[in-house]
Amino acid sequence: MIDVASFKDYRPNSNEMLSEALKGLLATPKTLPCKYFYDEKGSDLFQQICQLPEYYPTRTETLLLQSIAGEVAELIGPACQMIEYGSGSSEKMHIILEALIKPESFTAVDISKEHLLSVTKALSNEFPKLKVHAVSADFVYPFSVPEMIGHGLRVGFFPGSTIGNFTRDGAIDFLRGTREVVGPSGAMLIGLDLKKDERILHAAYNDSQGVTAAFNMNLLTRLNSELGATFNLNEFCHEAFYNSEIGRVEMHLKSLSEQTVQLGPKTISFKKNETIHTENSYKYGIDEFIELAKCAGYKTLKSWSDKDNLFGIYFLQGIS
Ligand code: AVJ
Repeated sequence: MIDVASFKDYRPNSNEMLSEALKGLLATPKTLPCKYFYDEKGSDLFQQICQLPEYYPTRTETLLLQSIAGEVAELIGPACQMIEYGSGSSEKMHIILEALIKPESFTAVDISKEHLLSVTKALSNEFPKLKVHAVSADFVYPFSVPEMIGHGLRVGFFPGSTIGNFTRDGAIDFLRGTREVVGPSGAMLIGLDLKKDERILHAAYNDSQGVTAAFNMNLLTRLNSELGATFNLNEFCHEAFYNSEIGRVEMHLKSLSEQTVQLGPKTISFKKNETIHTENSYKYGIDEFIELAKCAGYKTLKSWSDKDNLFGIYFLQGIS
């Protein structure tokens, strides 16, 4: 059963979206928060990205999870309470839940209400004994989890390399914050993209079908339709590259001409080739991430990667 009473809606409203967009677009360099990619259209485009031949993370992580699920279940033990951060799709959670020993509860936290409801519905049908909760929230900020009663371990599941969207300091702050949710000896199971040959990264974010470009451009479509902005979509293009000094893929929207755009009460000026920085996707070596987790108060009990060293999964437990 889904606990409908505990459905919490903390989604940012359009006022917040306007003020965050204005703040980013009036800054130098210009930025937009990547969380706004995921409206219904954007979430759908992201699902398409996950199936692209060039986008290796999703299928690599899924296969890796399948091969380690038994080990993970043993580390977690019986009667656990799982919390999934950013439950874009239920498939990965399904792999873990299936392997777990009598899991007690599952709480999904996601910014997209539509995805959240379909994921929790699917999982509660498949695991009828599981107590399922849904929390619609921007998990960067504090949120409260419905009361979880049980004697097993609390485990946060954060797959998909979403933690790579944070800066290093942001990732440390986020992980510290999860300790409030899972408790002092609680655990985190994290999937995170590894550093690798730049050509593989470049192809993954510049796919030949242009789905990633459409995903990036959808941000401007959204500002036009939801906030009445006047972006001319023909005058911007998708740009993505690996910044090797910082160790991250950057996505930008590049202005193809000198132009102005109206957003709320402000006029925003663009030079030709000026960009809006829309996303960072940090890549970590295994030791590098273990060190980062340590700074946030977690020890890494176990880490895994696939045979091609494309993707890493980490099991962390709070240092109490
Ligand atoms: C969902 C943030 C992990 O960074 O690879 C995919 C988003 N952006 N293609 C990533 C994304 C462009 C994705 N994350």
